[in-house]
Amino acid sequence: MNVDDLPYPAYVYDLPGLADHARTIRSALRGTELFYAAKANPDPEILRTLAPHLDGIEVSSGGELAHVRKALPDIPLAFGGPGKTDEELARAVAFNVDRIHIESPRELTRLRELGRADVLLRANLPFAAPGAALTMSGPFGMDEDALNECARRIAESPGITLKGIHTHLASGLGAPALLDLSKRITAWALPWLRDHGVTEPEINLGGGMAVDYTNPGALFDWAAYGAGLGRPEARLRVEPGRAVTAYHGRYVTDVLDVKTTRGETYVVLRGGTHHLRTPAAKGHDQPFEVLTRKSEPVGRATLVGQLCTPKDVFARDVAVPPLAPGDVIAFAMAGAYAWNISHHDFLMHPHPEFHYIR
Ligand SMILES: Cc1ncc(COP(=O)(O)O)c(C=O)c1O
Repeated sequence: MNVDDLPYPAYVYDLPGLADHARTIRSALRGTELFYAAKANPDPEILRTLAPHLDGIEVSSGGELAHVRKALPDIPLAFGGPGKTDEELARAVAFNVDRIHIESPRELTRLRELGRADVLLRANLPFAAPGAALTMSGPFGMDEDALNECARRIAESPGITLKGIHTHLASGLGAPALLDLSKRITAWALPWLRDHGVTEPEINLGGGMAVDYTNPGALFDWAAYGAGLGRPEARLRVEPGRAVTAYHGRYVTDVLDVKTTRGETYVVLRGGTHHLRTPAAKGHDQPFEVLTRKSEPVGRATLVGQLCTPKDVFARDVAVPPLAPGDVIAFAMAGAYAWNISHHDFLMHPHPEFHYIR
C-alpha cells in the first residue's frame, strides 16, 4: 500500500508483522499460556490476526466480552475488571467464559447466585515493583484477608470452582523486574492454593511488559522472560496488551500549517490526540517518521493537532527536517492504547480511516 494514496489521518495496521510478533512471543513463552488483553486494541482485524497465536483473550467489561465473542466465537476467554455488574456477570456465565477473575468477596457472592463458574481470585500483593510505569494496587484485587474470605465462601458454593490466582501488579517492567515479581507471586500463590485444596493450581501473572516509546527497537525480552519462568508446579498464564500490539500500528497524517510563535516552531497536523491519545496519556513524545522528506533534521519543532487545547501535543521540541503543508508524518507505536482510548468526538473532527496491510 502506498501511504501517499491515503486520505489523512489514517491508522495503518501491519497484520503480517503483528502475526510474526505474536508467534515469536508465544514460542518464547515455552508453554506459559498467552492471553491477549483486548483493552490494548480490540479492533476485530487485530483480534483475528492474533487468535491463532493465543491461548485466549482477557476481557474487562461486558462490552469487551460481547465484542470479542462476536469476533472470535470459539476462543477461550478470561473475564476480569473491577466493578462488574450483575448483568455483566450473568453474561459471562451465559457465555460460559473459561475463567472469571474475582475482585472482591461481595462480587463472588453475587456470582454464585448466577450459576456455575471457574474462578481465579485477583490478589493485591504488597510486592514492590521498582521502575514500574504504573502500579495496580489500591482498589484492584484483594488482600490476604479478603482472599481467605473468598476461599471460605467458595468452599460453601458447589457451583464455583477455585482454579487459581490472578495478578496484574504493575506495568512497564522489563523482563528481569517482571521475572522477579513473577517469582514472588508464585512463591506466595502456590502454598496458598495448596492450603485451600487446589490440586492443579493456575497462576495468571497479568500483563505489564514494558514498551519503550523512546526506543522503538528495544523490545521486551520475551525469550529471557519465557526461559526465566521455567516450569513451576502451576499452569502459568500471562495477559499482556501493550507489548503485543503497540509496534504494528501507525497513525499517518499530513501537515496543515507550520508557524513560529515567540521563537517556538509548531507543526500543526490534521487530526490530533483525540485520535491518538497515547502521548498525552503517557506524557511522552510519540516516535515518528516524516514520509515525504528524507533529509536530516535541520531544526526543532513541536508537533500538535487540531484541538483547542495546549495538551494536544504529539511530540514536543523534537528534531525535524524542513516541513511544509502537505508533508506526511507517520507516528509509530500506535497499535496499543491509541485509537480506542482517545476522546474521538471532542471538536467533532472526522474520524480517521483504518487500513490493514495484509
Ligand atoms: C488486569 C489487566 N491485565 C492485563 C492488562 C494489560 O496490561 P499491558 O497492556 O500493560 O500489558 C491490564 C492493563 O491495564 C490489566 O488491567
